[in-house]
Amino acid sequence: MTVANHFELLRTDGAARRGQLTTPHGVVRTPAFMPVGTLGAMKSLHWREVRDAGADIVLGNTYHLMLRPGAERIASFGGLQKFTTWNGPMLTDSGGFQVMSLAQLRKVTEQGVTFRSHIDGAKFELTPERAIEIQRLLNSDIAMQLDECVRLPAEHADIDRAMQLSLRWAERCKRAFETAPDGYMLFGIAQGGDVPELRRASAQGLIDIGFHGYAIGGLAVGEPQAVMLAMIEEVVPILPSDRPRYLMGVGTPDDMLEAVARGVDMFDCVMPTRNGRHGMAFTRYGQINMRNARHQDDPRPLDEESTWPAARDYSRAYLHHLVRSGETLGAMLLSEINIAYYQSLMQGIRASIEAGTFEEFRARTRECWARGDI
Ligand code: GUN
Repeated sequence: MTVANHFELLRTDGAARRGQLTTPHGVVRTPAFMPVGTLGAMKSLHWREVRDAGADIVLGNTYHLMLRPGAERIASFGGLQKFTTWNGPMLTDSGGFQVMSLAQLRKVTEQGVTFRSHIDGAKFELTPERAIEIQRLLNSDIAMQLDECVRLPAEHADIDRAMQLSLRWAERCKRAFETAPDGYMLFGIAQGGDVPELRRASAQGLIDIGFHGYAIGGLAVGEPQAVMLAMIEEVVPILPSDRPRYLMGVGTPDDMLEAVARGVDMFDCVMPTRNGRHGMAFTRYGQINMRNARHQDDPRPLDEESTWPAARDYSRAYLHHLVRSGETLGAMLLSEINIAYYQSLMQGIRASIEAGTFEEFRARTRECWARGDI
């Protein structure tokens, strides 16, 4: 059975792609950065700010939401979009990755993964079928298959075993998703660590099953950027050009720019909000540590040319003071400034692909980062 396609490729510039993905809750312009709202909330931000910053789609997490408040409870409120008031496109991760990093006493078998909650020790089982059921209860526009991701460096045999298991789980997820209404999407996830032939086998296996879109997982898990980019270069040429490609958990602005240059369409990462809560600002001039004492008498804003008011209105001295004092407002302002920067980078990428000037944009952006804080 052919899988319906909700992605439209509008324009290419080299390997970089400008597209749009139509979901039941709205259209996503690609390349897209999805801010991470793990628990059904964007840490330190109002949904209004996320929208105003230019995000079309946000990410939620199966693992966290199944533990608290529970998928059935969210379903009784009409799904995650209504429960949170975001009301726009949502992608949910399947839980496998978060179980591996957060849960206690986890055990992976052919059937699925069992674990104890990091909140109260309660026992849970996540099978491919339950991961899909939960994501359907959440009313996720884009569900992800259950997969197993190994941290790098890892033995070849471990990477191979997890990749093959993820392919078998992909097939079960596809079957479990067959009753989803038209318009909702399921993405497969390519694994294979840092081994080129396993990466290619994973991508081909997923294509043989057939998904609405294809994710590249198991990267930004301890390997150098060059390895990550090499793995993208293995997988992307195999993937069908008419389907969206999503690089999971990535990354820095530089990672995203380089991945777009290699044909990736979607990203998510906790970095802009998490680093914001720790006093880091993302700007056109790279990352700036606002805890640093050199800012304490600096009257300048972070970026007077920014389209985001908070990046223009507050002095570096004040932001430094808020961060050093542990004021909530410091975390809030830096989180919104960072999300706005990530979205403005994506907007610049999209506009340059449309204009056929992506290479110039990439060079100019990198030059500005290299020049550093001015
Ligand atoms: N988030 C970041 N990397 C991964 C991955 O490999 N799998 C899943 N499910 N989520 C991720």
